[in-house]
Amino acid sequence: MSKLWGGRFTKQTDKLVEEYTASISFDKNLVHEDIAGSIAHVTMLADCGIIGQDEKETIVAGLKKVEAKVEAGEVEYSVENEDIHMNNEKLLLDEVGAVGGKLHTGRSRNDQVATDFHLYVKKQTEVMIELLDAVQRSIVEQAKDNLETIMPGYTHLQRAQPVLFAHHLLAYFWMFERDKERFRDSLKRVNWSPLGAGALAGTTFPINRQQTAEALGFERVYPNSMDAVSDRDFALEFLSTSSILMTHISRLSEELVNWSSQEFQFIELDDAFCTGSSIMPQKKNPDVPELLRGKTGRVYGNLMGLLTVLKGLPLAYNKDMQEDKEGVFDTVKTLDGALRLLAPMLATMQVRKENMYKAVANDYSNATDIADYLANKGLPFREAHEVIGKIVLYAIQNNKFLLDLKFDEYQEFSDLFEEDIYKKLDPEQVVRARTSEGGTGHDQVKAQLNQAEKLLG
Ligand code: ARG
Repeated sequence: MSKLWGGRFTKQTDKLVEEYTASISFDKNLVHEDIAGSIAHVTMLADCGIIGQDEKETIVAGLKKVEAKVEAGEVEYSVENEDIHMNNEKLLLDEVGAVGGKLHTGRSRNDQVATDFHLYVKKQTEVMIELLDAVQRSIVEQAKDNLETIMPGYTHLQRAQPVLFAHHLLAYFWMFERDKERFRDSLKRVNWSPLGAGALAGTTFPINRQQTAEALGFERVYPNSMDAVSDRDFALEFLSTSSILMTHISRLSEELVNWSSQEFQFIELDDAFCTGSSIMPQKKNPDVPELLRGKTGRVYGNLMGLLTVLKGLPLAYNKDMQEDKEGVFDTVKTLDGALRLLAPMLATMQVRKENMYKAVANDYSNATDIADYLANKGLPFREAHEVIGKIVLYAIQNNKFLLDLKFDEYQEFSDLFEEDIYKKLDPEQVVRARTSEGGTGHDQVKAQLNQAEKLLG
């Protein structure tokens, strides 16, 4: 088969080379972006008088025909044609004949692929923002159902201070909110159009880059043609935002795995989101959160992969850059699946409120509150901390919790104690007393929930 660039060659390409260098197996993912870019380009060529309006009509109709055939599954892409750009061009030539050859006037695959990839990343960034929105809605719904649910808050995975379960959940709302913000912010930079940069130096044709940028929904053009075809920082940014998002998903997943264990018994994931064991009939495994946690690794890997591909490249385009796509496609697939599962899994999980409360009642996580109590009576906090430390030790040695200690036992440690100490120790009171802004106190969490709901609109 003759190559679109075959003119200066005297030999057929080696079969292995053809297969190894082709990207069609994955960049066919960009078919719609590629056709949209071509339509914008050819329309501009006609409007600038570089080709005839009738030629443009023929080419646009041909491109639409190609797209329709692809959608109908009537097209077989070939490795001989290397990538999506040349496959589409070849299909166009088959469709409309020689005039199709005018499409590539004033354009190179280098600005073409960069344009396609910008359009793709832009679209997927918008999808991620929407999917994150759905996850946040699930979190808000669960939070609403758990505005009174008290659970132990942890540090070092040791019970630390009681918190509302709504508060714990909403922590993830804000992480996802910042992920959304990072995606939104990155759109500013994805919205630069590389089209018209040519191979690297621009073109001799009197093209109009503003027109194609506008037609494709970009906000501006790259001011430097070499930069336009060389950098993939917009893809790196997508991968790094995705990596941070996966970190959040992974941490939440880890909690779901813990909480649904026999040891915690804080939640029960819906049967629809769990799987069984082939040997142990009693098992109900939290495979989904485990896999979300596990798949985080590949997203980090995709980021590291592309950073490494780019780090040593001289300007401008190098074939290495063909390696930019698969990691991004894989990341999109991974995140898309993760977010689509996370939303319903969170919405359907059962919260075992009584077990959470039991865990709080049977521990010493109210200790800070008696230290605060003594500090409020004028004892320097450090001394109060010391006194309470001794009380906790005494209680542990006597197999009691702080609420079980008799009033005279308290008084042995400090005569600042009064009968109202028991009210301070009640977990519900301990939570309610955290009235500082952003704290776990009931009113604060309600205010936080309002903010969250307002953001979701
Ligand atoms: N398939 C190539 C890529 O993905 C398209 C650009 C090829 N340009 C070139 N001069 N070989 O990067």
